Amino acid sequence: MLRTNNCGELREAHVGQEVTICGWVQRIRDKGGRAWIDLRDRYGMTQLMFEEGSTPETLMVLVRTLGREYVIRVKGRVIERLSKNPKLPTGDIEIQVHHLEILNEAALPPFLIEDETDGGDELRMKYRYLDLRRAPVRKNLELRHQVSRKTRAYLDDQEFIEVETPYLIKSTPEGARDFIVPSRMNSRQFYALPQSPQTFKQLLMVSGLDRYYQIVKCFRDEDLRADRQPEFTQIDCEMSFVEQEDILEMFEGLVTFLFKEIKQIDITKFPRITYTDALKYYGSDKPDLRFEMRFVELNEVIGPTDFPLFNAAELVVGINAKNGATYSRKQLDELINFVRKPQVGAAGLIYVKYNLDGSFKSSVDKFFDQDALSTWAKSFEAKPGDLMLILAGKKEQTRKALNELRLEMGDQLKLRTNDKICPVWVIDFPLLEWDEETQRYHAMHHPFTSPKTEYMDQVDTAAPASIKASAYDMVINGVEIGGGSIRIHKKALQSKMFDALGFTKKEAEAQFGFLLGAFEYGAPPHGGIAFGLDRLCSLFGGAESIRDFIAFPKNNSGRDVMIDSPSFLDEEQLTSLGIQQIEKI
Ligand code: AMO
Repeated sequence: MLRTNNCGELREAHVGQEVTICGWVQRIRDKGGRAWIDLRDRYGMTQLMFEEGSTPETLMVLVRTLGREYVIRVKGRVIERLSKNPKLPTGDIEIQVHHLEILNEAALPPFLIEDETDGGDELRMKYRYLDLRRAPVRKNLELRHQVSRKTRAYLDDQEFIEVETPYLIKSTPEGARDFIVPSRMNSRQFYALPQSPQTFKQLLMVSGLDRYYQIVKCFRDEDLRADRQPEFTQIDCEMSFVEQEDILEMFEGLVTFLFKEIKQIDITKFPRITYTDALKYYGSDKPDLRFEMRFVELNEVIGPTDFPLFNAAELVVGINAKNGATYSRKQLDELINFVRKPQVGAAGLIYVKYNLDGSFKSSVDKFFDQDALSTWAKSFEAKPGDLMLILAGKKEQTRKALNELRLEMGDQLKLRTNDKICPVWVIDFPLLEWDEETQRYHAMHHPFTSPKTEYMDQVDTAAPASIKASAYDMVINGVEIGGGSIRIHKKALQSKMFDALGFTKKEAEAQFGFLLGAFEYGAPPHGGIAFGLDRLCSLFGGAESIRDFIAFPKNNSGRDVMIDSPSFLDEEQLTSLGIQQIEKI
């Protein structure tokens, strides 16, 4: 080793020892007769001290040639600091250096490599290897390592074995587009990168592996958001001879274990909500349960009215923002503007303030008297001081808009704090959903998901939309952390499912013949789940974006700006792949 110690471990107990340490020059302070260097590595920071008189003259000269991020190796004696720094674990000591070697020079970095940096997003991504030198970014990777390690420990303990599945595969229909890879040896043919190892893990169950997991890269060509990357990592799991209940229990166990081990948080409750209720009460299949503010439907309470907006509405629904009656006219106008934004999509917002004196002040006072407003307040279980916010319109749109407003109010009233962890299983998803654009049914989870037992015979009936699936999502603080299902394991039912999805027999055979074939050879009942590792990490790290927890992420256009990818290929490479040159723009 080039060093005896790292930059984070020396303490008062080491005073008097001769040490050799290596690292990057973070900062140099030169006060004439004395100079100090903060030396950094992955483990921390140690102060180096040089002093005219005791430090050799040549060394003082060398110190003055150093720049930020130079890589150096120093030998010296650990001494007690005159003025200690309680903020730094090594803050009681410094190294009185008597030997210094420059291991490598460094160009001036394009941004400050400190906890608080002056580098913008794009610049830091271009020089990601420098960004990763910063402690907060490095800590995120350390956290990720812990999450993977603990996940392996838990699953290992439960007899799961990790099996690698291929990356060069055939398209799996998980709802997004595939990334494709041309095959040189098979002219004009393409592999697809897996959107998930779904079919392979099912085949492993047919193979009798019983409990499988894999921490695995998945690839999806879809529009990017803060919680979506084109390549991301799943904790992918599958089990044989299980029912839905067994899976929910096993993976509540995993998540509880991870929170305990990594955040020292005890998760005591794992509520469940049906998909139907999630939409009815929260307007979303990913409800954020850190705060209540459930939807209250008012159509029946309101009854016949002269108010045209309510008369024309399929749904009148609202929320009670507790203690919100103090909202000023300006704040209410801002909320009205908020719901009118195209992303939210409501035509307007009705508010009812429940004043502390027991009276009501609303934006519809012209149409509704105090008695009527008081009846509404009862439905909202409102108390004096509360603010009721109501939207009206088409059912689906109105619920979606109220979900946005609920989350906005949660933010404004500071109810969505990171110290609260509120998991929920969303269950009983519909098996199929109608897609207006393609005029056919799509599998809501994926085509291998089993209907719930009581709907088993209904897949080929006329009303498949009402069939519920044995599918479940784990949602924490409004983020979909994982999802899975019990699978179909009988060939006949899987074929019926492909029929319902509009596949011809020939198409089903061409795409999934291998799976249907495998089901003929004794497929056990099985089911599983996959968690988004990046999302789990950002939840543990208390951050919105998963990018911060990925060593080399892509930007919002799916580009890696550091290696400048994707990029054009040269003629020769394309020709060898049997692809014609694409016109360069
Ligand atoms: P699903 O498509 O729900 O299920 O994916 C499982 C989990 O993966 C995470 N996730 C993502 N994370 C980051 N970026 C993305 N683009 C992205 N897409 C998904 C989410 C999600 O809950 N094969 C099934 C699982 C199964 O049925 O067992 C599947 O992939 O956290």
